[in-house]
Amino acid sequence: GPLEEISLPLFFGWFLLSSVQDKVRCTSMDFLKTLDTLEAFKKHLSDFTGKAEKEVDLEQYFQAKGTLHCTTKFCDYGKAPGAKEYAQNTAVKDYYGSAFELSLSALFVTPRTVGARVSLTEEQLLLWPADAIEEAGSASLPLGSRAHITLGCAENVEPVQTGLDLLEILTLQQDGQQGEPIEEMELGSLTYYGEGRWLLTLREPICTPARFSSFYG
Ligand code: A2P
Repeated sequence: GPLEEISLPLFFGWFLLSSVQDKVRCTSMDFLKTLDTLEAFKKHLSDFTGKAEKEVDLEQYFQAKGTLHCTTKFCDYGKAPGAKEYAQNTAVKDYYGSAFELSLSALFVTPRTVGARVSLTEEQLLLWPADAIEEAGSASLPLGSRAHITLGCAENVEPVQTGLDLLEILTLQQDGQQGEPIEEMELGSLTYYGEGRWLLTLREPICTPARFSSFYG
């Protein structure tokens, strides 16, 4: 009935504990600050500004979007396809409210979004919607490839874009595009995939506690 539909959230996901949110934000800010100063980044600045000469302050360019989280299922209060089925899934019910440790394996930046890739464990994949159609181009990416945390969006860009940007990079990799290795940074190795797409593969994944829950807004 209508009450049941109303009881579905905007989305389900893992919510980072507030004590680690600042740490992850700081790491992301540090990365943006460093990226900004690299000659290789300046060479491709027009990806971000549309003009070769202009400067860009990446820390200003991206705006933070609410509590840091990794969306598992966007339900749109029940309007999204598969929302009801997801909410009724045994794993979703059993794990609701449980604590997990998320592994952030990479940071990525595009002219639209900045995000962290989340590498899910087998157990965490039980909470990934089984009907997930990995949308960008190649459909053969492994389940859960889209898992990410949105760290910021450019002006007028919605957070849903972050997952699509990640899928785009992973699709390029899967299609055999190695990208252009730029340099070894303190946090890991930086690769450029063209059109303003930068990927920092972390040497040591960032492990962060997060609770599986939902957001109503
Ligand atoms: P993300 O998970 O990339 O951060 P909004 O505030 O725009 O309604 O979005 C709420 C959350 O749900 C955000 O975290 C957002 O993106 C995610 N989201 C929004 N739309 C979709 C969608 N169509 N598919 C998957 N996730 C979505």
